[in-house]
Amino acid sequence: MYVCLCKGVTDHEIRKAVRNRGVTTMRELRDELGVATQCGRCARCAKDVLNEALAECRECPVGASLAAAA
Ligand code: FES
Repeated sequence: MYVCLCKGVTDHEIRKAVRNRGVTTMRELRDELGVATQCGRCARCAKDVLNEALAECRECPVGASLAAAA
């Protein structure tokens, strides 16, 4: 599904950014994909998807380090 209509960013792209590029924060997501850089209406949904992706990403280095820290 589209999360950010202004930049045409999908939830799949956000999950991919977390898995493959180590994105862990909204700032990094903004820098990588441009999410929430125009109207900003997508910010809350993008953060929810980011948090879900981080929680699901148990096998990637980011997810493993988060799991270890918990
Ligand atoms: S919908 Fe993402 S900045 Fe407008």
